[in-house]
Amino acid sequence: MPPSRLTVWRQAGRLVLPALFLVALAACSEAPPPVSKASLAGEDAAAFLKAYWQRPLPAQGPAPAHFSPLEAALDPASCGTCHVQQYQDWSGALHAKAMGPGLLGQLQNMPAEDRDEHQACIRCHAPLAEQADSLVAALSRGKPDKGGGLHQQGMVCATCHMRGYQVFGPARRDGMVPTPADKLPHDGWQVSAAFADSRFCASCHQFEPDDFALNGKLLENTYAEWQASRYAKEGKTCQSCHMPDRRHLWRGIHDRDTVRSGVTIAVSAPRIESGAVSAMLSVLNSGTGHFFPTYVTPRIVAEVFQAGANGRAIAGTRVEYVIGRQVALDLSREIADTRLAPDAEARLDYRRPLDPKARTLGYRVRVEPDNFYTGFYRSLLADGAGRGEKLIRQALADSLASHFVLFEESRPLRDGAGKP
Ligand code: HEC
Ligand code: HEC
Ligand code: HEC
Ligand code: HEC
Ligand code: HEC
Repeated sequence: MPPSRLTVWRQAGRLVLPALFLVALAACSEAPPPVSKASLAGEDAAAFLKAYWQRPLPAQGPAPAHFSPLEAALDPASCGTCHVQQYQDWSGALHAKAMGPGLLGQLQNMPAEDRDEHQACIRCHAPLAEQADSLVAALSRGKPDKGGGLHQQGMVCATCHMRGYQVFGPARRDGMVPTPADKLPHDGWQVSAAFADSRFCASCHQFEPDDFALNGKLLENTYAEWQASRYAKEGKTCQSCHMPDRRHLWRGIHDRDTVRSGVTIAVSAPRIESGAVSAMLSVLNSGTGHFFPTYVTPRIVAEVFQAGANGRAIAGTRVEYVIGRQVALDLSREIADTRLAPDAEARLDYRRPLDPKARTLGYRVRVEPDNFYTGFYRSLLADGAGRGEKLIRQALADSLASHFVLFEESRPLRDGAGKP
């Protein structure tokens, strides 16, 4: 999330927006009682989740003496020796990359011991207490952070599944719960229905009501958008779309097939009348369980243009419609909000003089998943990204490499019905 900008600006001693930090830190300081068997009896998912996701997360403490080194390990590869499928899926997911160069690059410039400032970011990006420690250790070395510390592994399995060396998870697929007689590795697990609840994801994908907002709208509002949608009424949770069949994939705006599954795109054939071409391109949010897109970071560009014999757009004929929530890089204001609520539609009505060189009319929808960050990293580099410079350059390259074409079609302009 863009609080990134604020941190950096605070460091540079320029524009300061401390409100967000106070909120982030306040959220860390409230400490509900830790999860225990008692709090699970007659489970209330809301109460369970409040305790489960308290920030900062408490340290696991000492591992039970009878645990093997493998059972006591917190790194995902260790879990993966037994949970092969989950580990494979997770390794390809953005949750595994939640401490990518864009984030690490910014952390390099924070004081090594300022744990509160680290928490403002890692409470969502790498929340284990053991990760907070490994981050402090890495920053204290005073060199760019290269090594494979636990913090670099982002949202590890234990973030969602382990508290005090006790594993938590859903019931088995057949609904059965484990018993001590099963004699399972890591002493089995505590079953909680909260794992199938959308509120499980809200702890990082939804701001609290008094958190940072622009133009009266929270910067992160995914859970509330979902709750107001028909998907909540139909019982289609975040997990049902983002973890189909319990797979640990979490695909979203960076994945073409996922985005395609969330929208319906339609075009109308070009008509040529009195020397002008007219046509229509529409994008309907038909299957995204929240706004399309939900965050301020992506930008979707729908465009229609006339193309010459080489298939390229002819200058001056292109019309575009941007879908997204555009905000200033310093988060001081909202510039436009054209995101599509569930079941809402964007429509580009094209009408332009017919260019004499035009052969076809092109329709295209492009996705720039990290558009906000591209601008943000550029301005960071222009101001000087300090010790994080190399990482921020990498993050900028990654943000540009993530662009893809979601939809492309072309229709003849000269032959057939369109001819004047
Ligand atoms: C030595 C092998 C082994 C290791 C290492 C291991 N597990 Fe397990 N885990 C199992 C077995 C076996 C089960 C029981 C599966 C069953 O009986 O349905 C299990 C069950 C689970 C469950 C509950 C599955 C369900 O159906 O709800 C979760 C969650 C889980 N493990 C997470 C983890 C995490 C996270 C780690 C690493 C911190 C880990 N495990 C490490 C073997 C292992
Ligand atoms: C501990 C915090 C945390 C929790 C809990 C969490 N997420 Fe995330 N999620 C993140 C962060 C941080 C990212 C961004 C990772 C990155 O790109 O650096 C992310 C990324 C994603 C993405 C990828 C978005 C994209 O840009 O393509 C999806 C989808 C997603 N999460 C869904 C979920 C779902 C569903 C749940 C609940 C089962 C969940 N998340 C729980 C923090 C969390
Ligand atoms: C409330 C949870 C939350 C907090 C706190 C948070 N983020 Fe994020 N962050 C997310 C989610 C969710 C995403 C993925 C969606 C997106 O791109 O906005 C993300 C994405 C990012 C990305 C782009 C993906 C990547 O890995 O390069 C960067 C960079 C980032 N955050 C930096 C920060 C920094 C720096 C801080 C601290 C100042 C911070 N975030 C605090 C939830 C959070
Ligand atoms: C963002 C939180 C999150 C992370 C990170 C995460 N899991 Fe899960 N895991 C879940 C949720 C939520 C479910 C239940 C999904 C459902 O019920 O639809 C689950 C289910 C499981 C299950 C039961 C699967 C089944 O098919 O019955 C196992 C085993 C498991 N996780 C292991 C792991 C391992 C191993 C890792 C790391 C490689 C991991 N998880 C990382 C949230 C997470
Ligand atoms: C009906 C299916 C569906 C449901 C339910 C759903 N999503 Fe999504 N989600 C999608 C699709 C499709 C995309 C890709 C399009 C997009 O990015 O908006 C997506 C994208 C995302 C992204 C990428 C970032 C972005 O700006 O769009 C995140 C994060 C995310 N979902 C989290 C969640 C969370 C958290 C929930 C539950 C509160 C949830 N989703 C519920 C279908 C769903």
